Amino acid sequence: MDDDPASSPDPSSRDPLPRHHNGHNQPNGPSVHLSEVIGAVSFALDLTEGQPPGHCLRSCLIGMRLASSFNLGRQERSDLYYTLLLKDAGCSSNAARLWELYGTDDRLVKSDFKTVDSQRLLPLARFVFRHAGTGEPLTKKLKRVLFLSRFGDTLATELIQTRCERGAEIARHLGFGKTVSEGIFSLDEHWNGKGRPQGLSGHKIPFGSRVALLAQVIDVFHHLGGPEQALSEVVQRKGIWFDPELVNAFLKFSSDPEFWGSLKEEGLQERVQKLEPEEILLSLDSDLIDRISEVFARIIDAKSPYTHDHSRRVAHYGEHLGQSMGLSGSATQWIRRGALLHDLGKLGISNAILDKPGKLEPGEWAEMRKHSLYTEEILRRIRIFSHLSKIAGNHHEKLDGTGYPHQLSEEEILLETRVITTADIFDALTAARPYRGPLPYDKAIEIMEREVGLAIDDKCFKALKEYHPDWPPSS
Ligand SMILES: [Fe+2]
Ligand SMILES: [Fe+2]
Repeated sequence: MDDDPASSPDPSSRDPLPRHHNGHNQPNGPSVHLSEVIGAVSFALDLTEGQPPGHCLRSCLIGMRLASSFNLGRQERSDLYYTLLLKDAGCSSNAARLWELYGTDDRLVKSDFKTVDSQRLLPLARFVFRHAGTGEPLTKKLKRVLFLSRFGDTLATELIQTRCERGAEIARHLGFGKTVSEGIFSLDEHWNGKGRPQGLSGHKIPFGSRVALLAQVIDVFHHLGGPEQALSEVVQRKGIWFDPELVNAFLKFSSDPEFWGSLKEEGLQERVQKLEPEEILLSLDSDLIDRISEVFARIIDAKSPYTHDHSRRVAHYGEHLGQSMGLSGSATQWIRRGALLHDLGKLGISNAILDKPGKLEPGEWAEMRKHSLYTEEILRRIRIFSHLSKIAGNHHEKLDGTGYPHQLSEEEILLETRVITTADIFDALTAARPYRGPLPYDKAIEIMEREVGLAIDDKCFKALKEYHPDWPPSS
């Protein structure tokens, strides 16, 4: 059985998150900074992009430093700040297509592509040859190279457009306005008009996009070869990729060791939070937590066609199981949230593994298993989700102590987690997988029965069997 059940949805459209600006509408109850929530989720986006942890946070620091040379108003700085943090919000949406085209680890293709000047033919051709069909027989590799060379232009626009549209949509769901969503949408436009998807040029490119692109490239090359390499790359692409005025702004502080020191990992999240121009506080109510969970689930579920709707379906089953077991409204609500977020860590797994049409090799399994630990680690970064990090992160633990990532014992596995595990396995069996079609309900139940007391809790399984009349879900 796949360790992991299927899927991804398209949750229904929601209203923006309720936001309070510090100093104005102070919420009455406890609150959390929006930057804490978005900063934490940006680690999941880094994983998907194949970037070292903290890339989005560092891009935010760099971008805000670049912007300090311009006379921006408070709202403009606020919009820029969230554009930078969310620049990769749509990154999960083209991962499956990239894998289909290149036949290799999408995270590697994405991260290496960030080091290529795609406007120069030779480096681009070299990139395609090196990455297409890695490990495949030569004839298959050449077929891919030829296809990518022939349709490369159209395909690149398609990939970027998908990612840009999805990123802008996520920003709108989080309640951001046009400036932020457009800033994310146009991230890959270049100053000379040879970027994508619209080929905008000069000042027609939103300011946020111009800053985000430059900040991103600075971080990538700084990571690869230190300040000198970042500087050299930026100067080479001045007026080609980058707004010359922004490059000039960078040159003014590019030799400041304090600036480069501020990019170090230790304390990074806190430094970025302190930069939030207009401390936006979210009142900590259950509606907010539900909405954040829904938004995160959209990003997760966009990663693979085989996980399409998975998080939403597991949430649906889990909620019903909780109710039929007589759990409190609060416990059921946490089950729903945990189910929406349980596979957050899959953003860090290559689609070459997630979408593999055959059996996983031992090494691939080991990689796949990391996802639940990633889920736990990312959620733990948000204080209000510390309990949720356990509920969701332990969904592959087993009652007999042979699960992962912690090999917890039966007593250590929360009931909320057991419900999610049951719902997760049920959906894995009844949804299509890369290597088989969906199993019928009775067959799924038969297989699950063998796991009762091992991976599946007895009470949860009984509730699942009683739940039959409501299956399949109509939503
Ligand atoms: Fe999982
Ligand atoms: Fe799952």
